[in-house]
Amino acid sequence: MATGGSFLLCPPRFYGVEYVINPWMEGNVGRVDPNRAAAQWADLRRQLEARASVELLEPQAGLPDMPFVANAGLVLGDVFVPARFRFAERKGEEDHFLAWAQRASLAVVEPPPGASFEGEGDALFQPGEVLLWAGYGVRSSLHAYPAIGDALDVEIVPLHLIDERFYHLDTCFCPLPGGGVVYYPDAFDRDSQDRIRRRVPADKRIEVSKEDARGFACNAIVAAGAYIANHIGPELRARLARCGFEAIVCPLDEFMLAGGAAKCLVLHTDRPKPQRIGEVPPSSIRERVVELVGHLLDSGLMTQVLDCIDDGGGSFEIEDFRAGLRHDQDSVARVRVVAPAAERLGEILERLIHMGVRVVDDGNVEREARLAPAPTPGVAPDDFYATTIFPTDVRVAGSWLRAEEQRMDAVLVVYDNNGSSAVRCRLMRDLDEGDLVVCGVEGVRTHPVRSSPARDDSFAFMTAGVSSERRVELVVERIAWEMERIRARGGRVVVVAGPVVIHTGGARYLARLVRRGYVQAILGGNGLAVHDVEVSLFGTSLGVDLERGAGVRGGHRHHLRAINLVRAHGSIAGAVKAGVIQSGIFYECVRNDVPFALAGSIRDDGPLPETLMDLCEAQAEYARLARDADMILMLSSMLHSIGTGNMTPAGVRLICVDISPAVVTKLADRGSVESTGIVTDVGLFLTLLDKSLSGGEIVEAEDGGSTC
Ligand SMILES: NC(=O)c1ccc[n+]([C@@H]2O[C@H](COP(=O)([O-])OP(=O)(O)OC[C@H]3O[C@@H](n4cnc5c(N)ncnc54)[C@H](O)[C@@H]3O)[C@@H](O)[C@H]2O)c1
Repeated sequence: MATGGSFLLCPPRFYGVEYVINPWMEGNVGRVDPNRAAAQWADLRRQLEARASVELLEPQAGLPDMPFVANAGLVLGDVFVPARFRFAERKGEEDHFLAWAQRASLAVVEPPPGASFEGEGDALFQPGEVLLWAGYGVRSSLHAYPAIGDALDVEIVPLHLIDERFYHLDTCFCPLPGGGVVYYPDAFDRDSQDRIRRRVPADKRIEVSKEDARGFACNAIVAAGAYIANHIGPELRARLARCGFEAIVCPLDEFMLAGGAAKCLVLHTDRPKPQRIGEVPPSSIRERVVELVGHLLDSGLMTQVLDCIDDGGGSFEIEDFRAGLRHDQDSVARVRVVAPAAERLGEILERLIHMGVRVVDDGNVEREARLAPAPTPGVAPDDFYATTIFPTDVRVAGSWLRAEEQRMDAVLVVYDNNGSSAVRCRLMRDLDEGDLVVCGVEGVRTHPVRSSPARDDSFAFMTAGVSSERRVELVVERIAWEMERIRARGGRVVVVAGPVVIHTGGARYLARLVRRGYVQAILGGNGLAVHDVEVSLFGTSLGVDLERGAGVRGGHRHHLRAINLVRAHGSIAGAVKAGVIQSGIFYECVRNDVPFALAGSIRDDGPLPETLMDLCEAQAEYARLARDADMILMLSSMLHSIGTGNMTPAGVRLICVDISPAVVTKLADRGSVESTGIVTDVGLFLTLLDKSLSGGEIVEAEDGGSTC
């Protein structure tokens, strides 16, 4: 009886685990029992022969994986698409499979050049439909599939495999006659899971457990109503029965040592071409070529780019790589980026552009940026390009235009500047209706500033990194030197500070920096000013006496009294002028005309009259004061520091001080060279900074009034 189709099998005469090309093989080299393997294979053959026609292929010495004949290629009607293996270990099998196809008079359609394709291991037809489920991500390349879809005239549905243990689609996915599938969702990325759910109705989707998946329950041969696999748990058995399939367990643990089971051991050879109704939908797979230039290997950029493509659900082919031969020479790479759908390609390309990668076309033609009008005030077109901190160019009318007012998380607007085009970053909320917004990734390039691997250690603290306690003093001395130079040339240092500055006794030193002209603006929140004024008035911060480090009676009311007093005088400046506040950071700001901006928050007491409770207004004021800064000192305020970092373009020197390494890493890691992270107590940092700026002496407060 042979109603279940025709299958090709290859006896396991030379089968063994002789190398490791998947996680299952690890630790199993030389551990196959050949007699047991032969018996298990013979049992599978018997089960299949009872239901289908079986043809045998002669095994070859030295090709231990040849029994896994599912990877020979893909047959549809009289067409054979041969495998092109990813690993050299299996390439020797290709000629034998090709010779078989020629003997079988199949028309051979090669996969596209440069792509790997592992046959029915990764490409599975939905029985009776013109639909090919196309696995990629571990073995087969995504870019193999559009050409295969065209050649076979079938629709391709790409499925991204993300778990190396389920390295072929047939290890975790089995299409069933009648429109169902058995599959293990965790083997796929979220998009692929969605694609399966969209294509297969819930009552026909059988999701298997982890235990079933690891027993290769999905690696099944479906023939004449039987579902034959190495392992089938009770729940799956029951589901299959409800769908009308007889579950047959055929133990194949000797083959599991190599990461294969029932389906891997057969190739379906008589799959008829189904009748198709209407046109096959065009492939959703899209690709573009990108170019990378720079120290691609030692900076790790090449790896980052390839990881980014893979993480984004795409696949890649390196078309060209020219390594710089000397240390001062750049390397150049051209990479074909392939994604399962246009939106996914757009997302991957946007991330690559943020890394400084350039999208090119064949022949290196530069494309123009695509512009679309803002549909309503404060709303961008749907596929707007989102900016980074790095200098960005936009291609308009054949020229690259540098964006003005560079900042993060904005959109790019092309506008008319006295008859010629110009580009600037704008927050979405500031868009006017009809503003021309750059959409997609065409015609956009960025220039990330990266640290050079050639720099020696004396310069290393200039690069993005986190300093240990041991190095703090050295680093602070260098920062003080930079601040002196900025002051000497009339530059701008902006300080972002949180209330911890006050609690740790750092206020007196920050106040001295303001008085001595080292600070040109202060950005903080209500808390910073409240506690600064509290120290000035009562010598406490949050009720704690800073001299003695102990709480004072009634101290918990001090910050509220401070707020009340300032409110009574209309403003901090009013309280200073009235002589109520006689020391502290904000006293010095008022006395020395140093502007400040206080951004409100939900937890604020008061607030102080100056605190901007309209956050859009606060952001605008921060941006105004942070503009043209030469250096920004971020002192123990995650909230305000992140806010300021987002509006600051690359190129501005950032010093981030926080006790938490995670916060410092988050703030300092902008992918640019000019940020320095210092993990330390902010009070200690300010003491050391003041000491360095005072020629090495620790100077006590000069104002007499302050006990902070
Ligand atoms: N009375 C008030 O109105 C009041 C009081 C406090 C805070 N606030 C408001 O709450 C919001 C958030 O405040 P935030 O900026 O303090 O919070 P935040 O969590 O954003 O930042 C505090 C940071 O200080 C760090 N830190 C703690 N101890 C440190 C030390 N000894 N040395 C160095 N770093 C240290 C923490 O790791 C953290 O990153 C602000 O808007 C602020 O104005 C209001």
